[in-house]
Amino acid sequence: MNQDNKHIAVIGSGLMGHGIAQIFLAAGHTVALYDTNKDILAEAKDKICEIFSLLEQDVGLAGNLTRCDTLAQSVQDADFVFEAGPEKLEIKQAIFREVCESTKPTAILASNTSAIPIGAIGSAVRDPSRVVGTHFWNPPHLVRLVEVVQSEATALEVVEQTIALLEHAAMKAIHVKRDIPGFIGNRLQHAMKREAIALVAAGVCDAETIDTVVKHSFGARLAVLGPLEQSDLVGLDLTLDILNVLFPALDNTNVPPPYLVEKVNRGELGMKTGKGFREWTPESAERVRNEMRDFLVERAKKSLGST
Ligand code: NAI
Repeated sequence: MNQDNKHIAVIGSGLMGHGIAQIFLAAGHTVALYDTNKDILAEAKDKICEIFSLLEQDVGLAGNLTRCDTLAQSVQDADFVFEAGPEKLEIKQAIFREVCESTKPTAILASNTSAIPIGAIGSAVRDPSRVVGTHFWNPPHLVRLVEVVQSEATALEVVEQTIALLEHAAMKAIHVKRDIPGFIGNRLQHAMKREAIALVAAGVCDAETIDTVVKHSFGARLAVLGPLEQSDLVGLDLTLDILNVLFPALDNTNVPPPYLVEKVNRGELGMKTGKGFREWTPESAERVRNEMRDFLVERAKKSLGST
């Protein structure tokens, strides 16, 4: 199916929504953007233009953006609707119900939820087969993976069309075949976090050491060598020998660790309060943010250049 010149609607133009809108504008589509907060909607165009400049893309394509006063107006011509509203089931269900009143019956309806089951969001509408999860990462224009999540009700064709649209927009789109909490990426990320916190709580090392180990050991090669590729590289026999020793020793608690809960109760929330697992000044927090942004911009520019 031809993926050129689609009409895309993005509902919610906050942190994620304006980046998602830029991705589709850069791919040559028209984008209708809606947000209940008129100030956020008004700022969206400038923010989108900034992303075009950051990625050295044709800012003229931002001219295909329409900011809409009503949700109905934003979705009336849409081939695809991407919802990036607040992470609350009742709000998402209300948005999807309203979207259905004004869209073409063939429009594909996608939610950027981080954690709400896609089936629960889809249950709010008459035809849940056209509801799919599209879990973009933050910031979506720089971290270019999207997990396309199929609920029990989602039609396979809807998943396939969504993946085709995303790939056309130079995103790396993958199919999550079951509607499970955390999808794939967050399950992997947080499995590692469980062990990281357990090591610090047990006094094996401090939080800074954890970050140093990850960044300078397997983290240094993760972008080119995934964990299962790495097992194939060293051999599954060696992997099995290691796991026989290691798995019984790994943390396997199934609730958030007291070490984390106590920090939250003390107001140690991370960079925003100056202390979390580590201590932060405004300058050191800013340095980390800038370092991450510069790294991701270079990587995104490289991958956009090669598509
Ligand atoms: P945000 O708070 O920056 O943006 C949400 C926007 O939705 C706000 O601008 C708000 O005014 C608007 N809004 C509220 N009610 C609305 C309604 N009824 N109709 C239209 N717009 C409405 O939140 P953010 O971070 O952009 O998150 C959006 C979604 O993306 C959430 O489901 C979140 O879980 C998910 N997500 C967030 C990530 C992150 O790192 N922030 C990463 C991946 C997914």
